[in-house]
Amino acid sequence: MFKYLREYKWSDMQQILANDRAVQKTSSVSMAGRQCVITGCTSGVGWEAAQVLASFGAALTLVNRNAEKSEKACSLLREKYGVDCSFLIADFTRPAEVHAVANTLLHRPEPVDVLINNAGTFSTRRVLTAENLELVFCVNHLASFILTETLLPKLRKTPGARIIQVNSQGHRFNGLRPDDVHFSRRHYTGMRGYGAAKTAQLLCTWEFADRLAGSGVTCNAMHPGAVRSAIGEENGRLYRWYKHHFVDRSLKDPHISGLAIHYLATSPELDGVTGQYFNLTMPETPAPHARDRELGRLIWTISQDLSIRTKPQEAGACTIYDV
Ligand SMILES: NC(=O)c1ccc[n+]([C@@H]2O[C@H](COP(=O)([O-])OP(=O)(O)OC[C@H]3O[C@@H](n4cnc5c(N)ncnc54)[C@H](OP(=O)(O)O)[C@@H]3O)[C@@H](O)[C@H]2O)c1
Repeated sequence: MFKYLREYKWSDMQQILANDRAVQKTSSVSMAGRQCVITGCTSGVGWEAAQVLASFGAALTLVNRNAEKSEKACSLLREKYGVDCSFLIADFTRPAEVHAVANTLLHRPEPVDVLINNAGTFSTRRVLTAENLELVFCVNHLASFILTETLLPKLRKTPGARIIQVNSQGHRFNGLRPDDVHFSRRHYTGMRGYGAAKTAQLLCTWEFADRLAGSGVTCNAMHPGAVRSAIGEENGRLYRWYKHHFVDRSLKDPHISGLAIHYLATSPELDGVTGQYFNLTMPETPAPHARDRELGRLIWTISQDLSIRTKPQEAGACTIYDV
């Protein structure tokens, strides 16, 4: 950790500290008539964001792995806020399912005005998916890459569309090595794995922003605050004990994340602002390793190769559930 801190400019460290204490910006812009796609909204940050966006009138499409929780969430959003809500199911450890969701969203008539890549996970152990991909990299980065890249042609047709990558200050732990993204040749720790995945997502955020330049579509990343959520609950008993007794006590209400996502999705101040990292709503300089554009191009190529490798021959479609 101290090794990384040495790479920071003093002014960047001051900015991080100031942002943590800052009064956050909010937006009062209506989202009526706007279509938002949001991943991982059965709990925590995603659920709060879905509620705030719905309270501003957005039509929502949820992408989750659990059908029962999704049905409950959609019914609640419809009943409480009177908005349209539908959902699609994909387990982000299975890229083929993400491809199917992306393909379905690409071909349905509704536009995507806001794409929020939020689903994420944290693992204390190195776990491999069925395709031998490191799980945290696969869920936090590769899935968001596949979804965003597939939807680019559609997003380009919607000037003013915004992509929001729910990233993390955890990117500062780095861990990303382009020759070993799945940790086959080195020791895995939870923070390294999480840092690697979040760094990969940030580096690709700058790449997406470049590819969308001139289209009127923006792509930004954000840290949603240190907030109470279910992240990490799939780990062992010891980790969960530590989380419940030490970590959770210092965390904030995830409502602040929902408000920040609404601000990033709608604020006129951010018209045309792209390729930025925000700590909630405050612009912030990411870690030096996450600004290495040469590394970013490499990670883009690796991600694209993985996306192609995991894409089923028949670009399948999946059900859109309207409860
Ligand atoms: N909480 C924080 O303090 C914090 C700080 C920085 C960044 N973040 C980021 O915020 C985002 C949301 O996390 P959270 O803290 O709100 O955690 P959370 O409460 O655990 O929510 C994570 C969401 O992602 C979904 N998800 C997990 N694994 C999945 C998979 N394999 N396939 C599809 N969906 C999956 C979960 O679905 P299930 O309900 O089915 O598990 C849930 O809807 C993540 O990207 C996280 O890295 C959070």
